[in-house]
Amino acid sequence: MIFTDEIKQNLKTGFIGKRIFCYEVLDSTNLEARRLINNSEARHGDLIIAEKQYSGKGQTNNIWDSPTGGLYLSIITVSKVCSSSNLLSLASGVSCVKAINSVTGISANLKWVNDILANKQKIGGILAESITSGNISTNITGIGINVNSKILKAENCKFKPVSLIELTGKKVDVNLLISEICNYYEKYFDLYQTDSDKIIAEWLNYANINSLKVNFVANERALTGIATGINKFGHLIVNTGENEYTLSSTKDIELIYS
Ligand code: BTN
Repeated sequence: MIFTDEIKQNLKTGFIGKRIFCYEVLDSTNLEARRLINNSEARHGDLIIAEKQYSGKGQTNNIWDSPTGGLYLSIITVSKVCSSSNLLSLASGVSCVKAINSVTGISANLKWVNDILANKQKIGGILAESITSGNISTNITGIGINVNSKILKAENCKFKPVSLIELTGKKVDVNLLISEICNYYEKYFDLYQTDSDKIIAEWLNYANINSLKVNFVANERALTGIATGINKFGHLIVNTGENEYTLSSTKDIELIYS
């Protein structure tokens, strides 16, 4: 069960989680965040949590299976416009890996751009969205982690889904995990605004992109290249031998780890 009092007890944040909206069931925490923003009711640092979702959204329009026992949250932040929400996605990925490690001891890692993996299995993902008005961006960072749930299916998921309870063999304190994610996220959100190089360097510690083969589509041509790095916007740089491409979304992309 999710208890806001328990989450607050372990929060060490200045702004994230000052307001927590906790629901037994929602269509999607990202959609609820969008409703708050559209009604001009959202505040910087708002945290929206659901015990389960019936219309959870994954990347590239996939469904995010969201049974009870999982962690489903969205954090709303307001920042100066940044040309990419990828960087915020990378920053939240690092926060999740660190929080998972501090709560469960599991060494998770990251796959560009938003997948959280452990033992080559998928334990979670991030859906970062932004709404821009003038030079202000309102960001929704949606985080889904398979915690105490048994995940049977995940649409279009190349990596078999697994939950933290299946990996550790014991129940994980989801309230503590939420607090720790918020604690790390606040630190990385500040870096997101001031020092993108540091976020990329930290992200690369958890994501092995050396010799990563990438199949992708550009100008309606199927191409293959090797990942050579991440640019300051969080885009993946891929070299085909003929040209260099920067990829901003995982749509029509296959990453092949050797
Ligand atoms: C992915 O495809 O890997 C991203 C999954 C993101 C799921 C989370 S669960 C909380 C938030 N609300 C949603 O509807 N989606 C995100």
